[in-house]
Amino acid sequence: MKALTLTGLLLSLLTPYSTLAKGEIDPISGLVIDSGFEIVRAHCMACHSAKLVTQNRMTRENWLDTLRWMQKSQGLWDLAENEKVILDYLAANYSPIPSSRRPPIPANLMPPSSK
Ligand code: HEC
Repeated sequence: MKALTLTGLLLSLLTPYSTLAKGEIDPISGLVIDSGFEIVRAHCMACHSAKLVTQNRMTRENWLDTLRWMQKSQGLWDLAENEKVILDYLAANYSPIPSSRRPPIPANLMPPSSK
């Protein structure tokens, strides 16, 4: 392993998040980089980990319901004009996706157990 040079260290400290490309995962929050990322990061990690966001996939309507539920019962503030930005981001990146997994292989086509 190569020692981190002072220049390298300074560069890594000065490198802003914005050097991550759209579609990449922010290593700190785990959120996908896309427009609205900074606003989501600022509002949606104040009370809980962003895992609650990244673990979920919902329609825009259900995201809105979730925001309303947090506003009613969990102390989430009025998001004002950021609400649209947040919903756009969530709908674009955390919507339900149809499963692309292939169906399981039928047992009679599986190789025999090696044990
Ligand atoms: C004021 C505090 C607060 C803020 C800010 C906040 N939340 Fe939450 N959120 C909560 C609490 C409390 C829970 C319930 C946590 C639990 O069940 O452990 C929760 C739960 C959730 C859940 C899980 C809901 C479920 O049905 O299980 C999601 C998804 C979520 N939040 C998304 C967000 C998003 C997106 C934002 C940004 C707009 C956000 N939260 C901002 C307080 C907050």
